[in-house]
Amino acid sequence: MTMTRNGQSQNDRKMLEVRDLYVGYYKDLNILQNLELVARKSKISTILGANGVGKSTLLKAVFGFLKPNAGEILLNGESILETPTYKRIQKGLAYIPQQPGIFRDMSVEENLELGAWTFRRDKKRVRKKIEENYVRFPILGERSKQMTGELSGGQQRMVEIGRTLMSDPQMLLVDEPTAGLSKLLSEEVYRMLTDLRDREGLTILLVDQEIRKALKISDYVYVLELGRNKYEGPASEFTDLKKAFWVGG
Ligand SMILES: Nc1ncnc2c1ncn2[C@@H]1O[C@H](COP(=O)(O)OP(=O)(O)OP(=O)(O)O)[C@@H](O)[C@H]1O
Ligand SMILES: [Mg+2]
Repeated sequence: MTMTRNGQSQNDRKMLEVRDLYVGYYKDLNILQNLELVARKSKISTILGANGVGKSTLLKAVFGFLKPNAGEILLNGESILETPTYKRIQKGLAYIPQQPGIFRDMSVEENLELGAWTFRRDKKRVRKKIEENYVRFPILGERSKQMTGELSGGQQRMVEIGRTLMSDPQMLLVDEPTAGLSKLLSEEVYRMLTDLRDREGLTILLVDQEIRKALKISDYVYVLELGRNKYEGPASEFTDLKKAFWVGG
């Protein structure tokens, strides 16, 4: 296999490709400008950048919640610009937004079932997907009948991730999954993400503010500034602290 200067195999498949993207909330005001990004199969690609640079905006555009003013978004080499969100889900995309979205007054299992909404009539498949989650996250099996609001913050994130996995995604868009969690729980969440990559081959596009932690689990990193690409490179090139601070500042 030929390796590039960055140590990336040229055969690493591009799962998601964003080209020259312009997106905003109003027609003539683009938050993201000329944005370029690639997320490779079974890798964690991470987007860093200060508050308000447009990280969440980018994930929303990829998931189909915002319509770009210009540019291209390809999933497995095919344009998804005109593809509605529910069809992007069928094509393998899943989104875990910045605001946690579990239902606290529903049981763990009921929360998981919601992730099977599009195939809810197929009881066998719903059961199978739930059981897969209990194997993946045994604590959820133990707590299946408990109200989700009674779980720890990390376990609630686990329910949310498990619910997202019900639809068999190939690629997860994950927005600040450890915001507001303790150090210990954050580590649990990062381990869940690396396990999904390493054991199940999922492709992950992660937005994170915990620069140092995110760098540890990432394969490739993008830094945004004022809605534009500022830097990109393999996560290993960021390991020295000075660079990490430069990234932050
Ligand atoms: N629903 C909205 N309507 C109008 N403007 C918005 C909306 N959501 C975000 N914006 C604006 O778009 C810009 C980028 O916001 P975005 O949420 O993408 O930033 P971010 O990089 O995710 O920030 P943070 O790290 O704080 O989550 C900001 O200037 C914000 O005010
Ligand atoms: Mg955000």
